[in-house]
Amino acid sequence: MSHLFSARDVSVRFGGLQALDKLSLDVDEGTIIGLIGPNGSGKTTFFNALTGLCQTAGGQLLLDGTDITGLEPRHVYSRGVTRTFQRSRLCLSLSVFDNVVIGRQNSLDLNIVSNLLQRGRFNAAVRENHERVRALLATFSEMLAGRIFDPLHSLNMIDRRRIEVCRALVAEPRLLLLDEPSAGMTPDETHEFMDDILKVRSNNPRMSIIIIEHEMDLMRRVAERCIVLNYGRKVADGTFDAVVADPWVQEAYLGTS
Ligand SMILES: Nc1ncnc2c1ncn2[C@@H]1O[C@H](COP(=O)(O)OP(=O)(O)OP(=O)(O)O)[C@@H](O)[C@H]1O
Ligand SMILES: [Mg+2]
Repeated sequence: MSHLFSARDVSVRFGGLQALDKLSLDVDEGTIIGLIGPNGSGKTTFFNALTGLCQTAGGQLLLDGTDITGLEPRHVYSRGVTRTFQRSRLCLSLSVFDNVVIGRQNSLDLNIVSNLLQRGRFNAAVRENHERVRALLATFSEMLAGRIFDPLHSLNMIDRRRIEVCRALVAEPRLLLLDEPSAGMTPDETHEFMDDILKVRSNNPRMSIIIIEHEMDLMRRVAERCIVLNYGRKVADGTFDAVVADPWVQEAYLGTS
């Protein structure tokens, strides 16, 4: 069976540190995969390797069977893999619209001369972007959509996280990577955010999501499959219930054995 994405024996080294050690995993179209593991187990490194932000020391990354190992980040992005970052990369002084539309970097022709000569075409592209960003914000809430031109610094934490997700979604990815999206949220906000992720998925049934998360309640609710890393190696892969019942996971990750 062909998978949307596969990692085959992917390794990443930082000097003497083996951050990923022959990691293999498959992601099917339309699934939500939870990636869990202790601090420093290689979760973010896996996202970085997949999006071209760090070099691999071996193995292959396949998107739809095509080898994307070693591609530059913008080329991985244009093939439909987008992400959020563990540390926010939003620009607080810019508007909500600007922060989201950056994710459609290929959609606007920024050549001033051609834009002056073809004002109609440029205005149509701006209008189209506005509509698209507005519709995306409205999937989260009409209130957020109404704040499209507010400066980002006026939004609270959960809305800022939603903006980061919108930025990754605006390019209509096939594979969305979320790196600890609920970090710093209250339990109530985390709960609301889970509903958002499920909404995003039901609006995009063919899109696959890999979500790194320490919040086990969120995992239980949204992830159809969980993959557990430890020291850069995959130590468990299965349904949430199967994975948390695994004695190794209980001891090494949950510390509850
Ligand atoms: N650019 C880098 N240079 C050197 N070492 C790095 C680099 N990036 C990550 N590491 C190391 O690689 C290991 C894996 O880090 P990574 O950030 O992938 O872990 P993580 O599972 O995302 O952890 P956390 O849950 O804390 O976010 C850690 O030991 C980390 O210190
Ligand atoms: Mg991390």
